[in-house]
Amino acid sequence: KGIKIFSPATVANLACGFDVIGLALDFPKDEIFLYKSNNPGIRIHRIHRSSSLPNDPMKNSAFVALQSLLKKYKQRQKFDEKEKIGFEIELIKNILPGSGIGSSAASAAGVVYGANILLGNPFSAIQLIRFAMEGERIASGTAHADNVAPAIMGGVTLIRSYKPLDITKLHTPNKLWVSIIHPQIEVKTSDAREILKQKILMTDAIRQWGNVGALVAGLYREDYELISRSLEDVIVEPIRAMLIPSFYELQVRCKEIGALGGGISGSGPSVFMLSKGNYTAKKVTEVMNRVYSPLQVDYKTYTSPI
Ligand code: HSE
Repeated sequence: KGIKIFSPATVANLACGFDVIGLALDFPKDEIFLYKSNNPGIRIHRIHRSSSLPNDPMKNSAFVALQSLLKKYKQRQKFDEKEKIGFEIELIKNILPGSGIGSSAASAAGVVYGANILLGNPFSAIQLIRFAMEGERIASGTAHADNVAPAIMGGVTLIRSYKPLDITKLHTPNKLWVSIIHPQIEVKTSDAREILKQKILMTDAIRQWGNVGALVAGLYREDYELISRSLEDVIVEPIRAMLIPSFYELQVRCKEIGALGGGISGSGPSVFMLSKGNYTAKKVTEVMNRVYSPLQVDYKTYTSPI
């Protein structure tokens, strides 16, 4: 019994929403083949298009996420119903590891989503997110949910609380598009977290929660002007921006030709910009290309609806 899953790239830390707001892209997405077998254990057979994933399964987000689901599933089975269950996984990684658009999250979210279907849907979305977060803990050192939540629920998601886990799917405005540039430099999430300050100014906090509230209102009202005004991060971005070449130039040039605003995607190195409509989004992606083509950095760009 098998299933094929498409698992999307995601943008975490949606500007002011550090660790709490993320969204799922339509493109790129990983393809995952998952088979249930009577052979206990989890086996990753092949990973296509990725040389940089760890060989040790205990360091692989898909393996760890599925292992935590399987552990919970077995605890729930009654003694006389205990069956031998294992999974075989084949991963086609279209989302480059280390890109900042949720590559480890796509693997983790995709396998738990698929396994739940193969097992007859015993788990809720929030439980699947919890399993997938274990994969994130292995991949980045922190069990953050702002990539796995939108990967599993789709659209834009808000994490109101981590303890207890409380996640809401927000409204996605019809014409919201995303442009992404992925400079191919290494930024480890664990390093990008370590440089953050542990204390923040009250004045910054006030500005940030004003922006988060207004961003949510803007999404619901499909008020692109309000969304644009709210896409500002005064806490994390000023520190992480130094990790990304030409970050501020990208911001300025993309906004000049109509982007609503944007920021660092996840912990970087990718940068995202939101636009109203695909015409502007494609122009924004072209500007990203123009800013980066003179630099000595390889990069990739994407344009996607949400
Ligand atoms: N919220 C996480 C962080 C996202 O910025 O550390 C990582 O993709």
